[in-house]
Amino acid sequence: MKKIILFLLSWLLIVFSTLEGNADTNFKVVNGIIKFPEPKRIKGQEDVLALRCDPIPEVRVAFIGIGMRGSKAVERYCQLEGVEIKALCDVNSLNVQDAKATLKKFNKPAADTYTGVEDWKKICKRPDIDLIYICTPWELHSPIAVYAMNHGKHAAVEVPAALTIQECWALVDASERNRKHCIMLENCIYDYFEMATLNMSQKGVLGDLLYAEGAYIHDLRSLMFDEENGYWNMWRLKYNQKHTGNPYPTHGLGPIAHSLNIHRGDRMDYLVSMSTSQKGLTLHARQKYGDESPFVKQSYALGDMNNTLIHTIKGKNLLIQHDISNPRPYNRLYTLVGTKGYIQKYPFPIATIEPNSESVLTNGSVDSLLKVYEHPFYKEIGEKAREVGGHGGMDYVMDYRLIYCLHNGLPLDMDVYDAAEWSSIVELSEVSVLNGSAPVKVPDFTRGEWNKLEKLNYAW
Ligand SMILES: NC(=O)c1ccc[n+]([C@@H]2O[C@H](COP(=O)([O-])OP(=O)(O)OC[C@H]3O[C@@H](n4cnc5c(N)ncnc54)[C@H](O)[C@@H]3O)[C@@H](O)[C@H]2O)c1
Repeated sequence: MKKIILFLLSWLLIVFSTLEGNADTNFKVVNGIIKFPEPKRIKGQEDVLALRCDPIPEVRVAFIGIGMRGSKAVERYCQLEGVEIKALCDVNSLNVQDAKATLKKFNKPAADTYTGVEDWKKICKRPDIDLIYICTPWELHSPIAVYAMNHGKHAAVEVPAALTIQECWALVDASERNRKHCIMLENCIYDYFEMATLNMSQKGVLGDLLYAEGAYIHDLRSLMFDEENGYWNMWRLKYNQKHTGNPYPTHGLGPIAHSLNIHRGDRMDYLVSMSTSQKGLTLHARQKYGDESPFVKQSYALGDMNNTLIHTIKGKNLLIQHDISNPRPYNRLYTLVGTKGYIQKYPFPIATIEPNSESVLTNGSVDSLLKVYEHPFYKEIGEKAREVGGHGGMDYVMDYRLIYCLHNGLPLDMDVYDAAEWSSIVELSEVSVLNGSAPVKVPDFTRGEWNKLEKLNYAW
């Protein structure tokens, strides 16, 4: 008997020691599925589903990280009513100066400026700020968001909100403990097409949705290797040297997760993920810098193409793709497949809808269909959104909605569980890829409350 136990223990030791993942992972294999710990909610802490906070008539905002993305956000916020920009923070003082000039251009009061590496902590401690808007490189997203909520602020954080499962739980716990909003700035749920088709699916036009596809396919090679005008300190390339899987899943996943009512009556159960080998980044580095460059000699963990398949508790499947390393046209797939209809956005919009599913709708006929189901948000602010711009207007709709809900004390369109679930794919997909595409359980960040809300409902 002793021998058998010893044999089993040494076998388990071998299994666990061969599983690969990030340094801070502590997952186990349960019934053949990799499973991360799901910490219990501490006593007295409650969920923040449909969280309502006190209305804020004038939302006082601080921007942390004002690079390519943050500078555009500052510009858009200058065009929103009921907002005061109190602080601008970036370690690059030129970015802060540019943002200051933006405020001046829109005749807005001057904001306080910060350029220290940890100045975001000082800002989070200020009593005269309501919302911390985070557009830094990924590694700072969850540390700043958690710190902000711990200091009584709402947090709006760029995508992905977190890089590890531990960071996802930290966001959930900070939001629940402090009763503060944590919204991930997933703008793609607000695109015209996605909103109209969400409306269609909520009205039952596509029948029961069973399968959906989303992606982030965007050739970022030039930007990632641009030391002068690309990402600050080449942060994105550096991340991709160390990590594989899908590091940027939320643009693809967000809109389809909302259409499929994830954590509002269904939830993601497990995933499997597979990546190709890496070629594109090295090839680009060689073409740009020559064979002897350190950029060519160093390795990149990120496989060129990643496919992640997610299975939900109610038997739906979601396919999420990622490719930023090859010469491909921009593509987020965005496909919804239901028992009564099919619609896809990329590479070109097409649809088939019962009872006329033999005739495939394309071009103008898809436009007409979308017009019929135009989402109320676009009816209300679509024109202004297109005028302000930002990915065709969706960024403005996102900002407008966040500020509208804060003004009125309404639940936000995306909650901290969306942020955690969608961001969790970063580490879960990597762990699956590193372990022969093994199935990996998606943690239930609602801790059993995924059925409490029956369906997605944007407060209006
Ligand atoms: N939702 C979207 O469509 C979309 C589009 C682009 C980028 N993004 C996201 O926005 C974020 C920023 O991306 P970007 O393209 O602007 O990158 P960027 O490199 O241009 O900007 C990052 C900024 O953060 C600043 N920064 C770095 N450390 C800092 C610190 N300690 N304190 C304050 N500022 C600091 C840098 O100086 C830089 O200006 C990323 O998370 C990215 O994924 C989202």
